[in-house]
Amino acid sequence: MKIAMIGTGYVGLVTGACLAKIGHEIICVDQDREKIDALCGGAIPIFEPGLKDIVDEGVQDGKLSFSTDLTQAIELVDVIFIAVGTPQASDGRSDLTQIENAAKQIAKAANGDKVVVVKSTVPVGTCRRVGRILGKHDHQHTFQVTSNPEFLREGNAVSDFMRPDRIVFGTNSAQAEAIMCDIYAHFDGANVPVIKTSLETSELIKYSANAFLAAKVAFINEMANLCDATGANVDDLSLGIGLDSRIGAAFLKPGPGYGGSCFPKDTLALTILAQEADSPSRIIESVVDSNSNHIRRLGRKIADFCADCWKTDKKNSLIDKRIAVLGLAFKANTDDIRSAASTVIAPLLIKQGASVIGFDPEATIAAEAAIDHIETTTVINEALTGADAVVVLTEWDAIKLIDWAEKKTLLNAPVVIDLRNLYSPEMMAKLGIQYLSLGRPTVE
Ligand code: UGA
Repeated sequence: MKIAMIGTGYVGLVTGACLAKIGHEIICVDQDREKIDALCGGAIPIFEPGLKDIVDEGVQDGKLSFSTDLTQAIELVDVIFIAVGTPQASDGRSDLTQIENAAKQIAKAANGDKVVVVKSTVPVGTCRRVGRILGKHDHQHTFQVTSNPEFLREGNAVSDFMRPDRIVFGTNSAQAEAIMCDIYAHFDGANVPVIKTSLETSELIKYSANAFLAAKVAFINEMANLCDATGANVDDLSLGIGLDSRIGAAFLKPGPGYGGSCFPKDTLALTILAQEADSPSRIIESVVDSNSNHIRRLGRKIADFCADCWKTDKKNSLIDKRIAVLGLAFKANTDDIRSAASTVIAPLLIKQGASVIGFDPEATIAAEAAIDHIETTTVINEALTGADAVVVLTEWDAIKLIDWAEKKTLLNAPVVIDLRNLYSPEMMAKLGIQYLSLGRPTVE
């Protein structure tokens, strides 16, 4: 099938390339000429494992192309996906300007009836709003609007697309439903459940899935704090509850709080949506609060632990200290630092007088642009050399696999604060490293 993808950001590019991989002919459109030129020249603007291979393959097979000409793309296809950004507005709502502009442009350029698929994460009611905009700006043609949320994790997006847990779409048109079934026919033999539902339900499935996962993360972080307070062990606790098939083991790893471009934005937008629908969600409101309290609490904990280790006064303990922050991206295998723990923790340490050197294999450029006064490196030894303390924020393999027996010699003081529970407390104690992790008893 011939499909136009409006928006060649993270979701649009991955979805477009994957749809080409499963046999469709995709034109990815973006108004950013520089980005389109780069893609036409074979460059991939984001770091995403496996993406370059499928983009190259799609282009070589003539299944994937890139363009800035939206009108021409719309004329060539019957199905248009909207995958533009829905960033958080200053009031916490999703800013739907790009969605609305896309709808107006589709209506202006349409040369026949079209199926319009909303891929972007949007509040309930948006697809109907898109339908109204299309109808208002084009009286001649019929537009069937469909909601088709994505469930792609950054860093795993290609495999998430190729091996989906489920496919969800919402529409009130039998014709659009048949077209969506054709688009995803590749998965027919793979026993992938397909949920065909209403526009509203489909939109809400996406928000609820992210909110539920965010709640799991916030829950395990609170349990880690409780383990610290009671001497229990959060690793065993995660295992102990996660093996209950009703709970499930995924998303029960404690960390510095959930970040990224989705959970923080979507949980907040869902609380507002629920309030406006006169059906407030106290649970999600608490999840949002819990996550922001968690990261602030960790900031204080880092400073206090350092002062204890260095045996200095708690008040000015960080002044003129050199702190290595390992991992700047919000999680491993991405260069994305949106709402990353590094963007909260590093400024906090810098504000208290520390000099911070951040290591990350992919996110240094983004971090330098976002965090004032941070120094960055892609060489782990450069970050560790002369450090008075090390703070681990991201679970990159390069960080997970550090040989502390060897790297300890580079440090000015053997102090490691591990906010991803990557190392064994027993091993760190044996090496004489003063080690703080989340919800695990200290080993002397
Ligand atoms: C999330 C969802 O997982 C995807 O299904 C969804 O499509 C996507 O949002 C989206 O809405 O576009 P993503 O933001 O890429 O994907 O990242 P996740 O892997 O879900 O992680 C989110 C945050 O939770 C990260 O900060 C991660 O470090 C944290 N996390 C996750 C934990 O702290 N502990 C865990 O056990 C799992």
